[in-house]
Amino acid sequence: MAGRAGYVLKANDRDTFTVASPRLYPHMWSWDAGFVALGIATVSVPRALDELRTLLGGQWANGMIPHILFHTESDYFPGPERWRTQVAAARPAGVLTSGICQPPIHVIALSRILHDARRKGGDDQEQAEAFVVETFDRWLAWHRYLATARDPHQHGLVEIHHGWESGMDDSPRWDAPYANVHPGPDLPPFVRRDLAHVSDPSQRPSDTEYARYLWLLEQKVRARYDDVTYRASGDFVVGDVLVSALLAAASDLLADMGKELGCPVDGVNELRGIARRFRSGVLRSLSPETGLCRDLDLRTGEWLEVESAAGFALLICGGDEAAIRRQRDLLLGPRWCGHSRLRWPTVPSVSPASPDFRQRTYWRGPQWPVLNWLYAWALNRSGEQEAANSLRAAGLAQLVDCDFAEYYEPITGESLGSKDQSWTAAIALDFLAARRPGRRRAVRLLTRELPAITPAGTTPPASVRQIRPPGRTG
Ligand code: SER
Repeated sequence: MAGRAGYVLKANDRDTFTVASPRLYPHMWSWDAGFVALGIATVSVPRALDELRTLLGGQWANGMIPHILFHTESDYFPGPERWRTQVAAARPAGVLTSGICQPPIHVIALSRILHDARRKGGDDQEQAEAFVVETFDRWLAWHRYLATARDPHQHGLVEIHHGWESGMDDSPRWDAPYANVHPGPDLPPFVRRDLAHVSDPSQRPSDTEYARYLWLLEQKVRARYDDVTYRASGDFVVGDVLVSALLAAASDLLADMGKELGCPVDGVNELRGIARRFRSGVLRSLSPETGLCRDLDLRTGEWLEVESAAGFALLICGGDEAAIRRQRDLLLGPRWCGHSRLRWPTVPSVSPASPDFRQRTYWRGPQWPVLNWLYAWALNRSGEQEAANSLRAAGLAQLVDCDFAEYYEPITGESLGSKDQSWTAAIALDFLAARRPGRRRAVRLLTRELPAITPAGTTPPASVRQIRPPGRTG
């Protein structure tokens, strides 16, 4: 598995960044890059740092890290000509990007990379520590952007302006707010390209949903990507509980790393304040009935009661022991990972017991390996090592076909969506690295010449044979 995961990452490597997947997502995606970097770090810390460095190259002047960086030509839709970010004062020079963001997983990845680098010591440790010091202000600016421009009234929930910003595009979390998004007659015509890259359209969002996505994109362009203008006129404004929990957890981690490495005290204190505010926001969102965290529709003032995996946000940011225990039991119990129909006891994106559950459709039910990583990480951090280990083991077992798919059908275990997805391969490496023998083997395999790691009896495709091993590891 390590060898095949390595092939996928090498095939998707474009020297200074990694495409999210070869066909469906042929660019750099923001939260994908975070997961990709922590997976690559098991093999090469310098290359992992390069991934994050490239991502920061797309940062906007207001601190926002955009959700896509377009470094190359492709037929991906919507591409730069649709995003038209030249209307935005804050856009970066020298790289084309989208105009919205994605969940702030990056500092969590960075802390994981630093941890790995410190275990290895020597140059790896030196480079990782220097990178944290060098980029501290950039990550702080990113977190400050989310905490100010996206929470102007200090509610403690990060406001998103598009379902794509949640990373969970068509999750039933957004059904109610999207019901109030009505594409106007002036929505420019479009042709979807995503459907050509999956075996069956039911695995992707519907055309109705897509028109709404593109309508919000249009509204962002018309607001010139100014958050105040969009807030006054845009149709979709929602407090996202998972983004808020990630921001709280990541801000604490950045404060910890900054303090240890002598970064400016003001910045460290500011991060602690951000962490406190968003942790309180997540706590306030808890539903007393279900024990799950809820998003808040800021247009209607209504809590969104949906049994989605984002409901376990409190496990990520912490803050209340009893509520955390309740969430842990719920996550491992029969409505979630322990549901009797599941092929693998991993995290479904929507509870199979919910009427919203759709087993083949994108974020409406399938299991996403990144969610397994996130919740294994969160459980481990809150002292639940045994539960974290079981989730990791099940998450690895689920990847046994080595398709490294974007998501998995929860009842049959079939791989769905895009194959050779970089973040799935990266997570496989990280899960393997958590077991010492696996770690040694992964590193050994991945630093050899590619043909030498071809599984017996197979020949890698020409595109793979041409690929060089990661730059600095040689
Ligand atoms: N995830 C979206 C897509 O499918 C956009 O980021 O293209």
